Amino acid sequence: MKHEGSIAPAPSRSASEVFGDRLPIAIAYAELLATTGIEHGLIGPRETAKLWDRHIVNCAVMESLLPHLSKVIDIGSGAGLPGLVLAIARPDLQVTLIEPLQRRTNWLEVAVKELGLSHVRVWRGRAEEFAGRVQVPYVTARAVARLDKLYGWAAPLLPEGAS
Ligand SMILES: C[S@@+](CC[C@H](N)C(=O)[O-])C[C@H]1O[C@@H](n2cnc3c(N)ncnc32)[C@H](O)[C@@H]1O
Repeated sequence: MKHEGSIAPAPSRSASEVFGDRLPIAIAYAELLATTGIEHGLIGPRETAKLWDRHIVNCAVMESLLPHLSKVIDIGSGAGLPGLVLAIARPDLQVTLIEPLQRRTNWLEVAVKELGLSHVRVWRGRAEEFAGRVQVPYVTARAVARLDKLYGWAAPLLPEGAS
């Protein structure tokens, strides 16, 4: 059902399945994407109709790979995909969003606050700048760079031997 006054499409059945009782937060996030996310240029206006399946659910399904209480860094979060989505689905995770563009980190900080995601922090900068400063067992990224380049940015953020 589409909520009165909402711009985002109603959540798909798969969204209800993957988010469970966290669905209201996912709906609030979809609404942010469809409104200020588009106004601030974080997502294209043509994406609104595909918000749930192409973006939100597509990212959320990854949560099943993450053990309870995992620490995760998301490189190049943009509008929070996939890092913010994982944090919405999994309040037990500790998620750090790394994003170099100030306009995007500003939007992410507002979204984190509005959605009440106290287990998420937003760091502005390029992933390479955090090498040697932080290590976590899991690093995520979507549509950020070619795999070889991305591997070079992610590997220093992972403990030795991590796959
Ligand atoms: C195409 S967008 C993808 C955003 C989001 N991950 C998604 O799937 O919608 C690529 C993002 O990577 C960020 N980025 C580019 N180079 C980066 C780097 N070296 N470290 C971290 N983020 C980077 C950009 O600022 C941009 O927000």
